[in-house]
Amino acid sequence: MPNHLVIVANRLPVDRITEEDGSTSWRRSPGGLVSAIEPVMRANDGVWMGWPGGTDQDLEPFEDDGLQLVPMTMTQEQIEGHYEGFSNATLWPLYHDLVAKPEFHREWWDEYVKVNRRFAERAAELAAKGATVWVHDYQLQLVPQYLRELRPDLRIGFYLHIPFPPAELFQQLPWRRQLLEGLLGADLVGFQLPGAAQNFVRLVRQRVGHKTHRDLVYLPDGRTVRAAAFPISIDAAGFEELARSEAVVERAKAIREALGNPRKIFLGIDRLDYTKGIYARLRAFGELIRDGHVDVEDAVFVQVAVPSREQVEQYKLLRDEIDRLVGRLNGDLGRIGRPAISYLHTSYPREEMAALYRAADIMVVTPYRDGMNLVCKEYVACRVDEDGALVLSEFAGAADELRQAWLINPYDINGMKAALLEAHRAEPKELTRRMRAMRKTVTQHDVKAWAASFMTELDDIGSHRKMVRPATRS
Ligand code: F6P
Repeated sequence: MPNHLVIVANRLPVDRITEEDGSTSWRRSPGGLVSAIEPVMRANDGVWMGWPGGTDQDLEPFEDDGLQLVPMTMTQEQIEGHYEGFSNATLWPLYHDLVAKPEFHREWWDEYVKVNRRFAERAAELAAKGATVWVHDYQLQLVPQYLRELRPDLRIGFYLHIPFPPAELFQQLPWRRQLLEGLLGADLVGFQLPGAAQNFVRLVRQRVGHKTHRDLVYLPDGRTVRAAAFPISIDAAGFEELARSEAVVERAKAIREALGNPRKIFLGIDRLDYTKGIYARLRAFGELIRDGHVDVEDAVFVQVAVPSREQVEQYKLLRDEIDRLVGRLNGDLGRIGRPAISYLHTSYPREEMAALYRAADIMVVTPYRDGMNLVCKEYVACRVDEDGALVLSEFAGAADELRQAWLINPYDINGMKAALLEAHRAEPKELTRRMRAMRKTVTQHDVKAWAASFMTELDDIGSHRKMVRPATRS
């Protein structure tokens, strides 16, 4: 069947589950991206291609709950070079302000090129004449160019989910020009924030030498590429509904009880990633206890660290550091039945996350750099009683929208301590004033609005076939 919309992402929106009897099945991954794109996929005979994880060979395209999915297999060599290497040990730290030192290896680049080419070739096979192809994220920045070479008839969009660094950092990359040219294969290049789009346009002018004007790049072949910001969001209504459900309300109560009904619960939920500032925030909390501002008898910090990229060296080191810190803080500051930190190295389904959000009084989100950060938006969506405090790093993309949070600089431990304390002591009226405003923002700019604005913009570019718009509820 010809596909009028092809979503190209590093991962499929489903995870492969191995049951106890050894059989395998698929489970929809919790991200909001798929629910936002699903209606437009259905209306346009859409297909989603991506890696299902692991090294399984030759998985056939399949349907999952009405979604057409095309698995892209990876060899061990490709996982090491493309995914763990170039994507997550070169680009990831470089694009996140060098929070860790990026490694530059020519063999990793070669695998990145090969995988990007294979993804582009498969997308070219799947796409109908004049179709729209939407490519996602830093693992696939060369796909737009390769795809355009193969299929000039397509309308191609690219969206970067992570930050795009300033020229001073980006130009360290030995393959900087190739990456810029890769992205320029798209008609529309979307970023989280306007600053990232400006970084890109400036680099294109300086390093590739194309003419630019504001958010437009003029290519010698007559094509125009637009670079603009589309801040991503969450399925706000879905989270709110979940948070109001009886099961989640009950579970939130049970969580508080299991923690010994402390007066205040601080909460962090992050992938275990060095960009997230987990170490600094736990240290700050520990110091507040040590200084006598917070008492372990009536406050606890629940930190959920979701296992991530566990084969990458920097992530292994981080896990050991956090394990040591939590052990030390609990050993030094905890009392019997009252740990300072309740640390969980695991991932949870949406229901449990919603219950944690409902149970927590102070949500602590302190990345050194983050494209957007959806956890803080999920917290806000789940605070249906308009209470709860958000302490948020000014270096998360979300800080541009959630201005009523307690904004902090995660490099400034004293500043972070002061904000944690203020949030801890804030009057209910103050909490409501802030939360009400943030809830309005998150509800109005949800993930459906995000997907629709990107698709509309892409649709308006050029004279290609127009997308069929699914009926939307307001
Ligand atoms: O934020 C970037 C991102 O790649 C997301 O798209 C993804 O959900 C997350 O990081 C986890 O990444 P990985 O696919 O490496 O587990």
